[in-house]
Amino acid sequence: MIEGIKRRFFMAITFPSLPFSPIDVSDWISSETLDYHHGKHHRSYVEQVNQLIRGTSYEDASLEEIVLQSEGELFNNAAQSWNHSFYWLGLGGRSSGKRLEDYADLTRALKESFGTVETFREKFTEASLGLLGSGWIWLVENHHREKLEILQTCNAGNPMKDGLRPLLVCDVWEHAYYIDFRNSRANYVSGFLKSINWGFVAQNLSPRRDLSLPKSLRASFAEESRRWLRPVLTLY
Ligand SMILES: [Fe+2]
Repeated sequence: MIEGIKRRFFMAITFPSLPFSPIDVSDWISSETLDYHHGKHHRSYVEQVNQLIRGTSYEDASLEEIVLQSEGELFNNAAQSWNHSFYWLGLGGRSSGKRLEDYADLTRALKESFGTVETFREKFTEASLGLLGSGWIWLVENHHREKLEILQTCNAGNPMKDGLRPLLVCDVWEHAYYIDFRNSRANYVSGFLKSINWGFVAQNLSPRRDLSLPKSLRASFAEESRRWLRPVLTLY
């Protein structure tokens, strides 16, 4: 009965617009790639999610809830939808005129975790080139170890499933770069690292006071995620 009430309205997952102008990334990625990657691939994942959730208990769930709770085909399409939105949000920062160094907390966290910012870039590139096949390269915050980490996920993998907090992601599926770079993932990743919206990454960093609290006093992951996923939620 409760389910019947909840399902009176089908809340479709929305396909978000790009959060930047194609001009902001034009010296790295072409409009053709954006049209193909965002307009076809990303759109298709969102459409698949909406088909799969219709008539199920996920009808009124947020995309984040679907990613965290589903498995199989629905998870693959939901995570691909979420991952792509997060990827787009992390790009196009050049027009802001801001550099990584303008975000002191983020720069400090990168140095504490990797030694230097340059080492972070090297390790991110290594991880990108070292992933066999399709997947994603993430900068995440690991609450358990209280530091930033780089990790690879294959196919539609998403680190939220492991309780990790995403800060930035690079799509290393071939569809992300083949039109512009053919099989040179290295050139694609090099351009990615120059096109990051560091303001978005810095905004995803958890407040330092949270990390100083005993684990028992920190917000639960679900409560926490509702707060820090808001930049993505606004698009859905
Ligand atoms: Fe993609």
